[in-house]
Amino acid sequence: MKRIRLWPRGLTGRVMIVLLVAILVEFAGTLLLFGEAERLLLRSGQAHRVAEQLVVADRVLRLTPRHNRPYVAPSLSTRHVRFALQDNAPKDWRATRLSAVAEKEIMSWEPSLQGRVLQLGVTGVDGGKPNRLIGALQMENGGWIYFQSREAINRWNAPFDWLVSLLFLVAAVLLVSALLVRTLGAPLRALSAATDNIGFARRKIMIESSGPQELRRLADAFNAMQDRIEELLESRTQALLAVSHDLRTPLSRLKLRLHGRMHPEDPAAMRADVEEMQAMLDSLLEYLGGGDGTRNDPPTRTNIAALIQTIASNAEEAGHDVRWQGPPRLEAIIQISALGRAITNLVENAVKYGERADIHYFQKREEVVIEIRDRGPGIPEDMLPLVTEPFFRADTARARDTKGLGLGLSVVDRIVALHGGSLELENTQSGLIARMRLPIEGISFTSRLKKEDGNILIRF
Ligand SMILES: Nc1ncnc2c1ncn2[C@@H]1O[C@H](COP(=O)(O)OP(=O)(O)OP(=O)(O)O)[C@@H](O)[C@H]1O
Ligand SMILES: [Mg+2]
Repeated sequence: MKRIRLWPRGLTGRVMIVLLVAILVEFAGTLLLFGEAERLLLRSGQAHRVAEQLVVADRVLRLTPRHNRPYVAPSLSTRHVRFALQDNAPKDWRATRLSAVAEKEIMSWEPSLQGRVLQLGVTGVDGGKPNRLIGALQMENGGWIYFQSREAINRWNAPFDWLVSLLFLVAAVLLVSALLVRTLGAPLRALSAATDNIGFARRKIMIESSGPQELRRLADAFNAMQDRIEELLESRTQALLAVSHDLRTPLSRLKLRLHGRMHPEDPAAMRADVEEMQAMLDSLLEYLGGGDGTRNDPPTRTNIAALIQTIASNAEEAGHDVRWQGPPRLEAIIQISALGRAITNLVENAVKYGERADIHYFQKREEVVIEIRDRGPGIPEDMLPLVTEPFFRADTARARDTKGLGLGLSVVDRIVALHGGSLELENTQSGLIARMRLPIEGISFTSRLKKEDGNILIRF
């Protein structure tokens, strides 16, 4: 059976729990207040006692000879009520809400008092101890029985008391909610503290994936981001190492020629070395240039046929065997320079490793397919997943002393991915087929990216 989670995963669930607890606290507080109110109601018991003792006093005094009554009356006083007898009627006591309630209580408790002249009031108005029930009952044969309760009837009358308790209640609710929300925010604080330290330490600062679901995802994304940054730094370092290493060969050849140990008078050979170094630096720069290059090369509806034909005729001029086949017009939304570079890299590989390049392009459903075939040995199957890695070169390529850094295919792979397409490498009987598939309408993601000062701002 699935265990019921008391502490939900999502932030929403947790906030709901916070509110629930807050409401419970408030409810408990209110109960306390109402408990006090209930105690106040119990004080109506006082009214009952007053009523009973008043009736008794009335009967006793009626049976007492008139001249003795003023002396007898005080002796009827108890711990709860004080009695006295006077001839004159009370001054008009101001009726209050409380005295009205008390009168109702007294009358309903002792119906024999109904029809009798009873006046009630509450002390505190004319001095004396506040909140005592005070009253006078007229006797049938003259005189008034004055009485006063000895207990306060309503301690809660003062609005100040109410305010104080309300403040306590609010403070308790706020304190509990603040504590809970603070607990919820702890992982966020840890995250921002970690972010502050990134870049200072040499090591990665990983964040524990804990807390509510949303924060766990944030922590995961954050850790993944650091992995990517590390990979990026690593690939750049590798790039520099590889180029420094590969530049050494033509450089030492040049040195030897300059020092006359090889034919110094052979300017063509020296030029070839310099050009090789130039080409290496160019491809390194292109690789390091990274980015998607959309700033100077925005996605544009372009006739791919024309682009391919230009690349083919340039390669032919350079003395390579390059042919093309496809419709005279085939439009797609592409980044012209980037895609031109990708096609050129594939054509260069084809003529370098496979003698000639046959370019074949066509439309298939919503995609443009560009195939570059050669007549070479192809790529060993186990190396196929590796050749798109930067700086990867098959041993055979090195052995045949073909020039290159091993960046061409990784650049193609990145450009094709930026176009929302795919790159396939397929070995056939006759040679390798490098196949690019590109969506004709470009990648929809680009519409959600807005360039601002070279940064990418993703709008939601
Ligand atoms: N058409 C092909 N036929 C056979 N092997 C190939 C072909 N294209 C690429 N390769 C293999 O894949 C490796 C990586 O190719 P890539 O284009 O990335 O680098 P490169 O051609 O060696 O150098 P660069 O392109 O940077 O000048 C090559 O070294 C080669 O071993
Ligand atoms: Mg290449």
